[in-house]
Parts: sequence; structure tokens; C-alpha cells
Amino acid sequence: MPRVIIDNQEVEVVPGSNLLAAARKLGLDIPALCHHPGCTPNTACMACVMKIKAPDRIVPSCATPAEDGLRVESETAEIHGLRRMALELLLSDHGGGPGSQPCTCSKSEVCRLRRYAEMYGARADRFQGSRRRAERQYQHPELVYEPDKCILCGICVQLARQAGEPLGLTFVGRGFDVRVDVPFDETLERALRTAARRCAGACPTGALRVRNDVPNRKPRS
Ligand code: SF4
Ligand code: FES
Repeated sequence: MPRVIIDNQEVEVVPGSNLLAAARKLGLDIPALCHHPGCTPNTACMACVMKIKAPDRIVPSCATPAEDGLRVESETAEIHGLRRMALELLLSDHGGGPGSQPCTCSKSEVCRLRRYAEMYGARADRFQGSRRRAERQYQHPELVYEPDKCILCGICVQLARQAGEPLGLTFVGRGFDVRVDVPFDETLERALRTAARRCAGACPTGALRVRNDVPNRKPRS
């Protein structure tokens, strides 16, 4: 079994594990926003970074194999500063409340971007610039979708595909205009027929969330 050393603590992991899993085994709370079990890492957030030592390199822990003998830094001032910056970049294009006020959407209590931003002291106003705006309205009997809160993690895209949604979701546009949308300008209701609640539950922000007026019940599988 491979062993890695994170912040001077040795941990043994199952073969094929990544550094994120190793850190979590040690009880470290890593802001891995675009990571979801069963999904391929797309390293969209870069908030999970760690530093591999000798030779030094900064890596996304979710996509870096935990190779035997690696020495890694996680909870250092340098790494926390990089994570804070990654979170601030995400916040810079995340539709929150007015000005630098935090978002008050119905998912704000469980929004992982918000939780880690508070934990790392990340400021929403550090990076200024234009923000994404919704291109259109999205109708769904169970869901609300607000693209300006989306951090492009791609988890909902993968979960919809895994659920066998005939339409599903996809990335649309290029560069700063990239967004997650329904293909062919179809409706969100047609895109997410069975995977709606699974996608909302896995979304790390309030971008996809269950409507307030929909009663709580188990996700359809
Ligand atoms: S809607 Fe949520 S789950 Fe989907 S890509 Fe955006 S942040 Fe990720
Ligand atoms: S969770 Fe690793 S880059 Fe987002």
C-alpha cells in the first residue's frame, strides 16, 4: 500500500488514491469544490492545491496520484494563500448579494463555496471585472438554476450523463463566456428528468438547487 507524508504525518492509502483522499484520511478539510465521488476530476476550481516537495511543485490534490514516498505540504501559509486566491477568483464571477454582500439564496447554509470562503477569509471584491449574466430563464418543476452562481465544476454535466439523461447539460461558449447550459436551447425540464435532485444535491454552490416550494423527498434514481 502506498504511503505519503502530508504535513509530516504519514498516511497509507489504497492503490490508485489521490492526495485529496490521503489528506481526508488524515482528517484535513480540503476545499475541493469541483471534486465529486464517481466523477472525473476536471480541476476547475484549483482550491484543493497542495505542494509536493523536492522538487517543489503545486498540484491539484484531487487529480494527483498519491504515489508511495511523496512528501506533501497542505496546511501551510503558502498553500492557504493559494487556496484563498482560488476561492477569490471563483467569488469574482459568482453572483452573490448586492455589492460584496454574501449571497442569501436558499442554499446559502450549505453552499461549499461560501463555507470555504469564510474559512479562508476569501474576499468577494478582490478581483473586479465583468460577471457572467444569465442568457435566458430556466424552467423546471423541481429546480432553480442560476448560471451566475455556477463555478463550472462540471459535476452536474457528468451526473446527468451518468444517469443516462438523453439531453443532459453541457458546456457552451468559449473563454469568459463559457457556461453550463441545456443543448439545442431546449428546456431545463427536458434536460434533467431523472437526475435533477442528484445534480442539485451535488452542486457545490446555489447555482442548481431544489425550489423552495417543492416538498422534500428522496431523489429519483
Ligand atoms: S451548476 Fe453547479 S454542479 Fe453544475 S457546473 Fe455549475 S456549479 Fe457545478
Ligand atoms: S477539487 Fe481539485 S481542482 Fe477542484
